[in-house]
Amino acid sequence: MKKIKYVLLVLGAYACNIPANETGLITEKAMVVSAHPLASQVGSAILKQGGNAIDAAIATQFALAVVYPVAGNIGGGGFMVIRMSDGSVNTLDFREKAPMSSSETMYLDSANNVIENLSTRGHLASGVPGSVEGMVKAYENFGTISWVELIQPAIDLALNGFPLTEREANGLNSNQKNFSTYNTLAPDFLIRDWKAGDTIRWIDLGHTLERIRDNGRAGFYEGETAALIVEEMQRGNGIMTLEDLKNYDAQWRTPIIGSYEGLKVISMSPPSSGGIALMQLLKSVEGRELGDHNSTQALHLMTEAERRVYADRATHLGDADYYNVPVEELLDSAYNMGRMSDFSTTAKTHSDSLAAGVFALAESEQTTHFSIVDPFGNAVSVTTTLNGGYGSKVVVAGAGFLMNNEMDDFSIKPGFPNYYGLVGGRANAIEPGKRMLSSMTPTILEKDNQLFMVVGTPGGSTIITSVFQTILNVLEHDMTMQQAVSAGRVHHQWKPDKIFYQEGAISKDDSLSLVKLGHELQQRGPYGKVDAILVLPDGKLEGGADPRGDDAAVGY
Ligand code: GLY
Repeated sequence: MKKIKYVLLVLGAYACNIPANETGLITEKAMVVSAHPLASQVGSAILKQGGNAIDAAIATQFALAVVYPVAGNIGGGGFMVIRMSDGSVNTLDFREKAPMSSSETMYLDSANNVIENLSTRGHLASGVPGSVEGMVKAYENFGTISWVELIQPAIDLALNGFPLTEREANGLNSNQKNFSTYNTLAPDFLIRDWKAGDTIRWIDLGHTLERIRDNGRAGFYEGETAALIVEEMQRGNGIMTLEDLKNYDAQWRTPIIGSYEGLKVISMSPPSSGGIALMQLLKSVEGRELGDHNSTQALHLMTEAERRVYADRATHLGDADYYNVPVEELLDSAYNMGRMSDFSTTAKTHSDSLAAGVFALAESEQTTHFSIVDPFGNAVSVTTTLNGGYGSKVVVAGAGFLMNNEMDDFSIKPGFPNYYGLVGGRANAIEPGKRMLSSMTPTILEKDNQLFMVVGTPGGSTIITSVFQTILNVLEHDMTMQQAVSAGRVHHQWKPDKIFYQEGAISKDDSLSLVKLGHELQQRGPYGKVDAILVLPDGKLEGGADPRGDDAAVGY
C-alpha cells in the first residue's frame, strides 16, 4: 500500500465551508458517532452502563427516530453489520418490503408513463417498515441489558422534548407545505415556524415507543400501532395492510467479505448493492497508481471504475430472494480487472458505449448512518433510512412518526431514473413482498485480524462512492479519520455521464485536465454524512463526525 502525503485537504475542506479539524474525538475505550449529538449521547450512556455495541446501536436508532426525524426512523428500514471482538461477523437486513398488493406498473399511467411524485410522496410511496423488527432481532441475538433501558431514553426525549438544531429547524420549515399537502390529517404539532433552540415534543411518537417498549415487535406490527398505520394508509389511498405489517420479517444475511491491500472488508449483501459495489470499486483500483488525493489521475481512475460498477449495479443487482444476483461473479477479482482492461489514462469511456458485464447466469439523500465500538472490542455499523428527507412526508396520525418513501428505490419503469438518477431493470422491478435495491454500505474493516475501521454514510446513490473515498483517504492518502470524513467528495454513477463534485473538492487545474480527458463536470451541494471510527495503532479510537451535518462523536 503506498503512502502519499496528503496536501490538498485543508484547501478542499475550507472551500466547502467545512472546518478542517485535523483529528476527531479520541477516546480510550468506546465511541458512538451518529447524526445527532443527543443520539450519540444516548448510545454512549448505554455503553457506560455496561451494554455492548448492539445494545448501544438499538438505543441510538430509537433516539435518532425522535431527534433526527429527517432520516432517523421507526417508519423506515436499514442494515446492520456486526463484528464481535472474537472476529465473528453478522449482517442484518431490515430493509422495507413492497406491500403484497403492489405491482410492477403501480406508478405508471395507462400510457405507461411514470406518474409524477407517486413513488416519492404520499401514502403509496411507502414500503413495509423494517426498523423495529430489525432492532428486535438484533436484541434477541446480541442484546445484554434490558429492552426497556434501551428504548426509555428515546421515550423521554419524545415526551419531554429537546431543542432543535438550526439545521433541523430549517429542514422542518422547508417541508411545511409538504406536511400539509401529503397528510390527510395535518400534523399540527409539526406545522409552525421553527427556530433553532425551540423545544419540540413528539407526544404520539413517545406513546408508540412505549408500546414497542412494553410489547416488543407486536407494539409496532400488531395492535394499536398497526391499526393506526393501516387507517392512515386507507385515508390516503395507500395499499399497506395489517397482513403486510404482521408478516414483515428482517433477515440475517451472508455478509460480503473481501480484501483490499491485505485488509479485510466486511459489508452488506443484497438487497443492498453497497457491499458488492464497494468491493468491485476497491478491486478495480487495487494495485493501480492513484496519485494525490482528488488529483486528475486519482479522479479519472476512480470515476472510470465507478462508471463500470454502477452499470453492473443497474443490471445485475436486486433482492436476491427474488432475482438471481451473480454475487460471486461480480466480486471476482479477475472479472473486475477485466472490466478495467480498456481503461485509458488519456480519455474517458462514454457511458453510452459501456454496458453491464455479461455472465453465463440466467436519496435530498436522507438516510443516516452511525458507527459504534464498545469497550469489549465489538463493533456495529448501521445505516438506516426513510429514503428522501422526512420520507413520504406522511406522519401516521395518532402514532406520530414519518413513513418512508422507499418504493422509489425500485426501478419503477426500466431505464427511468429514480430520485437519485439511478436507473435499473428487471433485477429491481417491483414485486409483492420484494425488497427494493439499496445503496447503503455499512462497512467494517479489519487489519491484521483486528478491528480497524467502522464506516458508512447516507447519500442515496453517492453512499457507495463516499465510503470508497473515505477508506482510500485513510489507506492511500494517510489522512486521520476526521480528515478523511471532512475531505471534499467526487462521484460518478455511470448515468448521467457526469462527474459530480462538491465545491472545492477539485482544483481548477485538475478540473481542466479532467475536461481534457473528456469528462463532464457538475458541481453540487454537500452530500453524504460519513460517521466513522478508526482504531489507532495504540488501540485508542478516533471518531470522524461529518461536519456537513450536526453529527457528533461521543465516547470515553
Ligand atoms: N434509500 C437509499 C438507499 O437505500 O440506497
